[in-house]
Amino acid sequence: MKFFLDSAIVDEIAHALDLWDIDGVTTNPRHILASGKPMLQVIREIGKLVEGTTKTVSVEVNPHYKTVDEFVREGRKLASLHPNFVIKLHCIEPAFKAIPILAKDSIRVNVTLIFNAVQALAAMRAGAYYVSPFIGWKEANAEETRDLIADIVQIRDNYGFKTEVLVAAVRNGRQIADAAVAGADIVTAALSVYKDAFDHPYTRDGLAKFQDFWDKGQYE
Ligand code: E4P
Repeated sequence: MKFFLDSAIVDEIAHALDLWDIDGVTTNPRHILASGKPMLQVIREIGKLVEGTTKTVSVEVNPHYKTVDEFVREGRKLASLHPNFVIKLHCIEPAFKAIPILAKDSIRVNVTLIFNAVQALAAMRAGAYYVSPFIGWKEANAEETRDLIADIVQIRDNYGFKTEVLVAAVRNGRQIADAAVAGADIVTAALSVYKDAFDHPYTRDGLAKFQDFWDKGQYE
């Protein structure tokens, strides 16, 4: 399963590329705002970090857009900025028509803000490159998400869609593991989520114990 970083902070992305060789990046308007930079500037900077690789960077169109023409025009513009950019379109009806139009220009689409399996099916049927169910938002609303991920993967496999299932808004290590068990292709999460998930208090305790034994023993 691929690990994407959910961020538009260039230093964070560089760190995650260097330390963990993350497989891609997802951005959204919240991340762009947090970067403190204009969107076109920051996505170009992120693009430079993945130059010459197959790692994708998902960049989102203006969330005020409501028409196929707006999605297609902005999708083409953003895709022209970098070959690794995948265009994030919101899961609303015009996206289902815009996806095949963009696909004819070899522009890949990540359908974002997905909350049920039928939305994912509609996006996959239209030819989405990624579908992004927002797990953390559902769990914050006390909704179950394990079955949702498994259902989307199953539907994809039932019909042989090429779409990759990108589990988004992941908030903790348990959700990363759930996504992997369900057979998701990708998770995207913040740097702090990965750092916390890779850590365990028993590992730290164990290390302290072994250091103590080491210090009391002899090496040669
Ligand atoms: C992914 O593509 C989304 O941008 C993201 O996971 C949404 O998460 P957030 O709620 O952390 O912004």
